[in-house]
Amino acid sequence: MDAYDSPRLRGVNKSDLSAIAELEATAFGSNSLTRSALDVIFDPSGALWLLAEDDEGVWGHSVNARGEDPTVGWIVGMAIHPQRQRRGWGQLLLRATIQHLQDHDMEVIRHLVKPTNKIARRLYETFGFLDTGERIDHFGPGEDRMVMSLLLSGRSARSGKGHGDAAKAPQVPAS
Ligand SMILES: CC(C)(COP(=O)(O)OP(=O)(O)OC[C@H]1O[C@@H](n2cnc3c(N)ncnc32)[C@H](O)[C@@H]1OP(=O)(O)O)[C@@H](O)C(=O)NCCC(=O)NCCS
Repeated sequence: MDAYDSPRLRGVNKSDLSAIAELEATAFGSNSLTRSALDVIFDPSGALWLLAEDDEGVWGHSVNARGEDPTVGWIVGMAIHPQRQRRGWGQLLLRATIQHLQDHDMEVIRHLVKPTNKIARRLYETFGFLDTGERIDHFGPGEDRMVMSLLLSGRSARSGKGHGDAAKAPQVPAS
């Protein structure tokens, strides 16, 4: 394979869940989405997920869910395997994920990011995501997360008002 081949993006099948769980563990360690968590959220949300692959296998994913407010999409976990990082796969996957969620009538997209994860923050900011608040100790003591939000249509990315509580994340582990 050419080292700089573009990934192919596709939807996710149940048979992909082990590969996603492995990639999650590589990317996030103890804060990763486990195989059993993926199993639970696949049925209601799997149609919103995307995979990035090439001829050698699956190297990236976005695991997404609809929020309590159905116009709010959450990127619950996104990663590119270290062996494919810095080749533009992350940008491609994030762009496709935003489009995919928009195609499913999402008006706001939110994502929880570790405040120290400068690479991810920069990537999301490049696509117009704003810092819309911090959750102290979200995943346990010292595990704070920033809420980053992208407004896709005529409502405030900073406000959860108007369609229920838009800032309530789906109750699954996240990056
Ligand atoms: C964040 C992540 C998805 C980026 O994937 P990627 O395929 O390497 O990203 P790209 O090659 O498309 O690069 C996108 C931008 O990210 C930044 N970036 C990526 N890797 C970087 C690095 N090692 N150092 C500095 N900036 C980096 C750059 O701004 C880059 O744009 P540029 O190359 O034009 O400067 C990947 O690093 C990853 O999976 N990390 C672990 C999991 C994670 O943090 N996920 C995101 C939060 S859920």
